[in-house]
Amino acid sequence: MSSPAPRPNPSTDPGPGPDSLADAAPPLPAGTTVAGLRDLAVSLATEAGELVRTGRPARVTVAATKSSDVDPVTAMDRASEALLRRRLAEERPEDGILGEEGDDVVGTSGLTWVLDPVDGTVNYLYGVASYAVSVAVVAGPPEPERWTALAGAVHSVVDGRTWSAGLGEGAARDGEPLAAGGAASLATSLVGTGFGYAAERRAAQARVLAAVLPRVRDIRRLGSAAIDLCLVADGALDLYYERGLNPWDMAAGALVAAESGAVVTGLRGRRAGTAMTVVGAAPVVHDLVALLEEADADGAAEGA
Ligand code: IPD
Ligand code: CA
Ligand code: CA
Repeated sequence: MSSPAPRPNPSTDPGPGPDSLADAAPPLPAGTTVAGLRDLAVSLATEAGELVRTGRPARVTVAATKSSDVDPVTAMDRASEALLRRRLAEERPEDGILGEEGDDVVGTSGLTWVLDPVDGTVNYLYGVASYAVSVAVVAGPPEPERWTALAGAVHSVVDGRTWSAGLGEGAARDGEPLAAGGAASLATSLVGTGFGYAAERRAAQARVLAAVLPRVRDIRRLGSAAIDLCLVADGALDLYYERGLNPWDMAAGALVAAESGAVVTGLRGRRAGTAMTVVGAAPVVHDLVALLEEADADGAAEGA
């Protein structure tokens, strides 16, 4: 697994603040448009999704484990990423690649494709329906708190739904425009979240969950962060939060959520990133941010 680049120090570099639709697209390479990048993201995610769907054996086995014994990689994670890398080498040879299962490719165009070849690998392993291929392209450093996400697509493998977004161009599910709504209050919000693979992190996440659960309608842990983010855009979740996301978990889904009108943010004025990602429609999302800040959900006490 490739490691994300070092993150900025929030005490010295607070970043440009929560994502908003006011983000402007930076200058793009000649002949490149956001719409063209979005189309390519959709076709790559769909093509890899077809491989994941048709190539799933009756009994999936674990090829290796990564960050812990419960963090699996399967042959399909690798095959899907290989397909995506092969197609990008053909279509966008000057762009960089940050993919979960391979080495970083440094490009010359200023754009980087951020790939999660199977998001929801534990679901894929067990045959639980929520897993996806996530493909995004970003400008600038390939770090969530510093990049400008330009386009992305999340293809849900089992049911074939594809969410996509382009910066300044809105979000859609299978061509249907999306506008995030959300519940009237935190107390009536259905909240998605997820957990990391390290025991210490999970213990910390459980403590935060104990503070959140009594304050909301209910919690869903569906098992694919990329899909969870799109479900906020789609109205199937009101809110979502998770600590410890990797760039590839969130690159496409966070853009889909932001372009649907949802707020995508971190805590204490930081942008969304590994430390914390909170998503949902204003104003209720700010109540969740306040609750998570109070619970110190991104703090040292809650696990590194
Ligand atoms: C995981 C899923 C899960 C989230 C974890 C991710 P993976 O990705 O998105 O929902 O809670 O934080 O690591 O390992 O299945 O690609
Ligand atoms: Ca993932
Ligand atoms: Ca993955």
